Amino acid sequence: MNINARLRLKLLAGAAFFALVGCGRGKELPLSSAAVVPLLPPSPSPPTAADGALKGQYESNFLVGAAIGLAQKIQAETEDADILVKQFSSITAENIMKPQSLSPAEGVYNFADADALVNFSEANGIAIRGHTLLWHRQTPDYFFQGTPIEVKDRLQKYITDVVTHFKGKVYAWDVVNEVVTDNGSDITAPYRNSRWYQAAGNSKDYIDWAFEAARAADPDTKLFLNDYNTETSGKRTRLLAVVKDLIDRGIPIDGVGHQHHLQLSSNVDQALKAIDDVDALFSGLINHITELDISVYSDPGECFSSGENCATSYGDNVPESVINDQAQMYRDLFTGFAARPSVKSVSLWGLTDDASWLNGFPVERPNYPLLYDKDRKVKKAFQAVSDLNFVI
Ligand code: XIL
Repeated sequence: MNINARLRLKLLAGAAFFALVGCGRGKELPLSSAAVVPLLPPSPSPPTAADGALKGQYESNFLVGAAIGLAQKIQAETEDADILVKQFSSITAENIMKPQSLSPAEGVYNFADADALVNFSEANGIAIRGHTLLWHRQTPDYFFQGTPIEVKDRLQKYITDVVTHFKGKVYAWDVVNEVVTDNGSDITAPYRNSRWYQAAGNSKDYIDWAFEAARAADPDTKLFLNDYNTETSGKRTRLLAVVKDLIDRGIPIDGVGHQHHLQLSSNVDQALKAIDDVDALFSGLINHITELDISVYSDPGECFSSGENCATSYGDNVPESVINDQAQMYRDLFTGFAARPSVKSVSLWGLTDDASWLNGFPVERPNYPLLYDKDRKVKKAFQAVSDLNFVI
């Protein structure tokens, strides 16, 4: 046998070994498997999670969700699907329920991917959060063309069609996403000077159109205004003004979605104050945490606006102290959410670190913002929130 053939034989044997171990994962191994000598010493404390540890911990408080991208190919046998079924009670489509995905051309609908996700969720008793009916990103140009009346008719038809399609299946919709400006000195403040604002004839009216159409199509789903940076006081003040204006005029809104894309330097008290301020001003509104993640980098504002002065990448070696701080922050947040009865849903923006959008935003850099690592192992953050006695 030449050297190449011998190497090939060795590789094949190795593959068979891993296939055997893979088959046995999570199940009791047959006795004969004791004969297989493990190649690696067992890890001292393997990070495992009891079935239902995460969603069970918050069962009487709120649903626990994760955003799922197409990359995860939700099929019954994948590890991601297994994690979702065991640990999560809510799913958000990371992209496939956005206008660009659902209706790439006017009057043309592509529901197949979203329906597959809904079917998976229904088959496994997991609730679905809808994201998002209106945004200034990931939306085809045709939405913004024509007179304000044409824009209104088209938007209302789209929302009617989509909400009707998912009627009874989606428990909450982000009806409008990111309509509040980041800049209090904008002439349009508190509204974002977006393509929607402009297409509606330089007016906020499109927000009313969206909520009214959604309510008419499904009286039972919860309707949300969703935005980021509600943990900062300026943005929060502007958001509260927008919500107050809607409520004062009887526009149907049920709750505020706090994206809570946080980083280690974010202030937990302020993230919780965002909920308290909604509670104090608007009795009866509910709060959802819609896109929670905690970047391991503490970037200055200019990193997000221009990609300048971003924190240096950890590469593959994120320090243990950072992972511990992240776990503590997750615990403080979840404990705070659980103490606030108006919080009905808390969703992570992704399942595993490798799938997070933060690997590419605001700059390309490995990030570690979620509860599971790339090998689908629970991180300290998972243990910290699912077991309050776990010592971080
Ligand atoms: C992001 C997705 O995670 C990415 O995959 C996509 O390329 C861009 O959008 N706020 C939102 C989400 O409301 O829809 C965004 O999701 C992240 C920021």
